Amino acid sequence: MEDKKFKRTTVTAALPYANGGVHIGHLAGVYVPADIYVRYLRLKKQEVMFIGGSDEHGVPVTIRARKEGITVQEVVDRYHNLIKKSFEDFGISFDIYSRTTSKIHNKFASDFFRTLYDKHELVEKTEEQFCDEVTGEFLTDRNIVGTCPRCGAEGAYGDQCEKCGATLSPDELINPTNKNNPGHGLVKKATKNWYLPLNNYQNWLKQWILDEHKEWRPNVYGQCKSWLDMDLQPRAMTRDLDWGIPVPVEGAEGKVLYVWFDAPIGYISNTKELCDAQPEKWGPWQKWWQDPSSRLIHFIGKDNIVFHCIVFPTMLKAHGDYILPDNVPANEFLNLENDKISTSRNWAVWLHEYLVDFPGKQDVLRYVLTANAPETKDNNFTWKDFQDRNNNEL
Ligand code: MF3
Ligand code: ZN
Repeated sequence: MEDKKFKRTTVTAALPYANGGVHIGHLAGVYVPADIYVRYLRLKKQEVMFIGGSDEHGVPVTIRARKEGITVQEVVDRYHNLIKKSFEDFGISFDIYSRTTSKIHNKFASDFFRTLYDKHELVEKTEEQFCDEVTGEFLTDRNIVGTCPRCGAEGAYGDQCEKCGATLSPDELINPTNKNNPGHGLVKKATKNWYLPLNNYQNWLKQWILDEHKEWRPNVYGQCKSWLDMDLQPRAMTRDLDWGIPVPVEGAEGKVLYVWFDAPIGYISNTKELCDAQPEKWGPWQKWWQDPSSRLIHFIGKDNIVFHCIVFPTMLKAHGDYILPDNVPANEFLNLENDKISTSRNWAVWLHEYLVDFPGKQDVLRYVLTANAPETKDNNFTWKDFQDRNNNEL
């Protein structure tokens, strides 16, 4: 991953949701590989910035708050601090680790939306959407479950069936119900939202990715290709929710920016926060995001591919002032003892808990996760393998 035409490298690692701690799957898939790459560039005396932070908007944190009976702000404060500390403990050497509830980010994301709006890059549409018959609340795609129209599995989400992987819309579900209140009926209400017309960018995306980035990893390239072989649809960038960044447009009261709109902009606002704090060291933030001699690399997990390869680049392109990612290395998943790691089922090795059992042994875990990295296929973590590698290899 090197090129003479670039003078510096901007490296981002996906912003974890502040709805739980970080576990070995996060570490193996995203943060250790990104950290190794950044340390390598630093050793070669290259100019590099490593950006991280917590993703504090979106539905996952509000679900957590409901479950624990505390406010959403308490949830994000608790988990932001926990995650930040885990990354420090495990030597993930971010130059900045900030959060999407920061003032700087709020303004930055809001201004970014406003720029697209003023350039007529967003399409206003009124559509019927599902809401809870009793509370009147609009339901997000994730909060609607039903039978998958493709494979017949129960419990498919309104945006995706986890069984067969199909991308869905809530309308396609058979017998849709309200996930959190199965007893409440569903009704439809009209609501206005602003959409990013991905369809207008389809040809450009095809050329940019399929023709000009054949060197991207096969798993990333393949997923992009299967998206780009279908017709892209406009995607709503605003939501009827009360947790998030207010939509900076008249007539949008009670609406917030879609979490996948604001979160990746967090990479940029966190850069700005760092540059504003230490201008002599880092220069202006624009150098890292708008100068074509800067190389942008996003480290992510495979469930983030479409957002980093299709949605965010379209936002950057529509805005007009930004460079685009030169590579988007995405890893596959790491299983734990042959079972899928899951925050909601609490099936994970949490970093803060690992340190209680193995104080000071961060590097052992980093080593094992690197030796067994899920680069080209899902891999499996077992305590037996951990023990063997520690005893035989280290
Ligand atoms: N919070 C998301 C996840 O854990 C990742 C967000 S990456 C960003 O899957 F680009 F949006 F920041
Ligand atoms: Zn299915």
